[in-house]
Amino acid sequence: MSTSRVTVVEVGPRDGLQNEAAAVPTDVKVAFVDALSAAGLPVVEATAFVSPKAIPQLADGEEVFRRIVKRPGVRYPVLVPNERGLDRAEASGAREIAVFTAASETFNRKNINASIDESFARFEPVIRRARESGMRVRGYVSCGFGCPYEGAVRPASTARVARRLLDAGCDEVSVGDTIGIGVPTQVPDVVGRCVDAGMPLARLALHFHDTRGTALANVAEGLRQGVRIFDSSAGGLGGCPYAPGAAGNLATEDLLYLLHGMGYETGVDLSLVAAATRALAGAIARRPVSRVYQALESARGPRPV
Ligand code: HMG
Ligand code: MG
Repeated sequence: MSTSRVTVVEVGPRDGLQNEAAAVPTDVKVAFVDALSAAGLPVVEATAFVSPKAIPQLADGEEVFRRIVKRPGVRYPVLVPNERGLDRAEASGAREIAVFTAASETFNRKNINASIDESFARFEPVIRRARESGMRVRGYVSCGFGCPYEGAVRPASTARVARRLLDAGCDEVSVGDTIGIGVPTQVPDVVGRCVDAGMPLARLALHFHDTRGTALANVAEGLRQGVRIFDSSAGGLGGCPYAPGAAGNLATEDLLYLLHGMGYETGVDLSLVAAATRALAGAIARRPVSRVYQALESARGPRPV
């Protein structure tokens, strides 16, 4: 793979919509995923099969997954917390799952009611079963750059959990700055520790939230460190209900603008991503925060009233 090629993993339909106050109709979610895959995004995390009590926003996961267009060559991972979630994913026809744990014990307890060890005990059989049925598995490490409850998180702890996910059978591990607290000087530490722990760069993704406006700077440093997979969310939707202060994910439009301007290839059409955000914007309770999206909207001129 060319070193100028970057894979953008779109997480808006899951990480974005899980934290929007508005109840987004299923039809709108399906159209959103379809518009994102039509924009050329190679990976679109379509929904979550978690407890609907924990995340009511995504309770319609089965219907969403069944109805979205499955474009050849596009991956559609779904978030799964346990075997029940895997059952639902399999019944819906998903071919890729994402499991999730954290580098922080307290966050894990609040998010999934489990310690780090318990979380591995819970999803090791999930990963095993998924792989036996030929599924691809993504793993997330939340709070990789800091925790809303415990404060600083040691890069060595983040790397240890990332490596453990790889050993458990994940094809790719995404290290998350769940509350958007990280700064660029942390990125070489976190990435370097992961590499030292035996994580190939080709299997390491970075997942930034933009709570404090540092996400793009962190991406630029991640690129310098050789990372070529980044997660983002159209329009900058999202957050995490169990991470106080987590604003939206890094916006896909902002990420694409940076990548394309720096000469990286993604295969994604930025204007079509903005169109997907525009089509969704009427169904959420707030204006999409993406700066590039807003600039594109201003350039379109005032709307007729
Ligand atoms: P629990 O209460 O410890 O476990 O929840 P439980 O097994 O007793 O289940 C509680 C209830 O949920 C039961 O129903 C289960 O049947 C049901 P009841 O008997 O009370 O009627 N249930 C399910 N229903 C449907 N599908 C399932 C399922 N599992 C249980 N799969 C559990 C533990 C993990 C299930 C729960 O805490 C949960 O679902 N948590 C999800 C939390 C979540 O989705 N958080 C956001 C995603 S993480 C994130 O955003 C970070 C990330 O983006 C990376 C980053 O930013 O760093 C990934
Ligand atoms: Mg996230």
